[in-house]
Amino acid sequence: MLERLGSEAGIVLIPTMGALHAGHASLIRRGVALAGRLDRGTCVVWIFVNPTQFNDPADYARYPKTLDADLRICADAGAGGVYVPATEEIYPPGVNVRVPELPRVAIHPGLEDAKRPGHFAGVCQVVLRFFEIVKPKIAVFGEKDWQQLQVVRAMTKREMPGVEIAPMPTVREADGLAMSSRNRFLSAEDRVRGLAISRALRAATGESDAGAAERTMRAILAEAQIDPEYAVVRDAETLEKPGAGAKRALIAARVGSVRLIDNAAWPG
Ligand code: PAF
Repeated sequence: MLERLGSEAGIVLIPTMGALHAGHASLIRRGVALAGRLDRGTCVVWIFVNPTQFNDPADYARYPKTLDADLRICADAGAGGVYVPATEEIYPPGVNVRVPELPRVAIHPGLEDAKRPGHFAGVCQVVLRFFEIVKPKIAVFGEKDWQQLQVVRAMTKREMPGVEIAPMPTVREADGLAMSSRNRFLSAEDRVRGLAISRALRAATGESDAGAAERTMRAILAEAQIDPEYAVVRDAETLEKPGAGAKRALIAARVGSVRLIDNAAWPG
C-alpha cells in the first residue's frame, strides 16, 4: 500500500494500537482534513500493538484486538489507507531496531516515566520506525497521553525535524470520561468511580495555586476511593515543576483493574 502511494505522497499518519473508538475517529478525521491541504495528501492509519512499550506482559496479552471494527471506523472516518504490519516487519528477527536517545521529558518528570519503566523507550522506538517506513509529512497524536505527546514532539524535533506533530484534543464520553481503549475493561461500578478523574481535573481549574489544585484533585479522588499514582500540576511542555509557562493538570490512577490517565489545561 505504501509502495502504491509512492514517495511523493503527502502522508498524514495516525499511529494507533487498534481497538479504535470515537477518539481515534476524530484523530483520523483531523488527519483527513490536514491531508486535504497537502499536495497528493492522504491519511494513513497505522494499527500495531507494539510489544516493546508494555512494561506489564499481562497488559500486552489482554490488549484488545478488534481489527474488523477498526477497519470500518477507518473507512467511515475517510482514511485513505490502513497499514497493519506484522511484528516481524517492524522488528525483523536478528535486526536491532534503534531506540533513539530519550528526551529529558521522557525520563525526568517522575510521571509515566516512573510508573512504567521502559515505556517511552518502546514508544520512541516504534514511532521512529513508523516515521522511517511511512515518511509522513504530519503525524497526529491525541492529547490524552499528554506526556507521550511531549516526548514524541521532542524526539521528532531531534530525529526527524521534517515531520510535523499535530496534537488533537481528548474526546470524552457525554459524562466526561476520557475515551480510551481500556475503558471497556471497567466494571459498571468502576466506570462510575472513574468519573472522579475528569471531575477532579475540572475542579482543579477553579484553584489559583498549584498546591491547592493538587489537594483538590486528591480530595475528589479520595471521595471515590481512588488513590492516584499522581495528581499534579506541571509545566505543560517539560512536565517539570510549574513555572511561568503554560501548565497542565495530570492524573493517573488505577480504578479496579484498569489504569486510567487524563489531563487538562490548568489556567492558574
Ligand atoms: O498512543 C498509542 O496508541 C501508542 O503509544 C502509539 C503512539 C501508537 C505507539 O505504539
